[in-house]
Amino acid sequence: MNPKILLNTLNKNSDNSEIPVWFMRQAGRYLPEYRAIRQKFPSFLDLCYNPETASEITIQPVKRFDFDAAILFSDILVIPDALGLNLKFIEGEGPLLEQVLSEETFSKLKYNNEKLLKVYETVKITKSKLDKNKTLIGFAGAPWTIAVYMIEGRYKKGLPNVKKILLEKPELFFKITDLLVDSITEHLICQIEAGVDVLQIFDSWAGEVSEYLYEDVIINPTKRIVSRVKEKYKDIPIIGFPRNSGLKLKEYSEKSGVDAVSIDESTPIKWASENIQLPIQGNLDPYILAFSKDTAISHCKKILESTKNKKFIFNLGHGVIPSTPLENVESVVKFVKSYRR
Ligand code: CP3
Repeated sequence: MNPKILLNTLNKNSDNSEIPVWFMRQAGRYLPEYRAIRQKFPSFLDLCYNPETASEITIQPVKRFDFDAAILFSDILVIPDALGLNLKFIEGEGPLLEQVLSEETFSKLKYNNEKLLKVYETVKITKSKLDKNKTLIGFAGAPWTIAVYMIEGRYKKGLPNVKKILLEKPELFFKITDLLVDSITEHLICQIEAGVDVLQIFDSWAGEVSEYLYEDVIINPTKRIVSRVKEKYKDIPIIGFPRNSGLKLKEYSEKSGVDAVSIDESTPIKWASENIQLPIQGNLDPYILAFSKDTAISHCKKILESTKNKKFIFNLGHGVIPSTPLENVESVVKFVKSYRR
């Protein structure tokens, strides 16, 4: 049996008795040791491109809480950065990206993988420092979610520009998607070559896509990435996270080619457990984790009971929010680790 619990859960021949636990955004502002480092870096991107420091941040939550996996400390927006778009992270607001609204701006984009060599260096350093029983997760955003930031510049409610381009200039929209499929594939392959054990594809804004566009915009681009990565590295497990997809999660799980699906907090876990054939991950509400330890523990019990016949990875439905007390994270991780099926 593989000593890495998470990797083992994703192995088709293993049983489902052990429940690995890790949290999306487990490295970040709720941790004092992260804030201490962050304070010394005025620019978040400089932090992402500093391998020694990014590696230290990657390992911080694993050391503190004994999570079963570390997720590479980086961001999904390094791809537009490597495409040559101006990117800034604004304090208290989030990312701001140069917008792609015309063929003219699109024609200037060129993916420069060299720009991301520091990210692969972070993977190598982390791999050498991480305990051998911990899984190292690499990741990328899915084409749709990255396109949302490239076209809107920042997240805007209703995604007015993205929807306009998707419907009025579909050729431009799908050219952006094709360029992203190529860039993301290369970025993921480089992470595998640097040493990650598992990949996760974040499609945080998948829930904004209507039923009739879902296959073209969400499933197919992801499927192309998964099949190209697996053509080269057939054994690398890939977790897909098409957040807020609701009932469409089933179709995503059957057609995208991913090995496991991460479930957001709005999707009933019992439904997912019964309708999705693949291993699942999720789905504790990050706000409940932040604001009520007792409710969080009682939801943990329900989640673990609802998935008892399933290969399951305990996680949140979305990232840890910055105001989360350390004590709440500690209690939930301990509870999951002591739970016996
Ligand atoms: O611990 C981890 O999960 C690994 C690191 C990681 C970050 N971002 C670090 C980060 C991962 C996997 C991401 C993914 C990411 N980035 C997504 C997909 C997942 C999701 O949350 O939906 C998205 C949409 C982004 C884009 C992004 N980056 C936003 C919207 C923001 C601002 C919001 C915020 O929390 O500030 C970021 C900044 C960011 N990425 C921070 C961190 C730790 C905060 C930066 C800071 O310290 O100021």
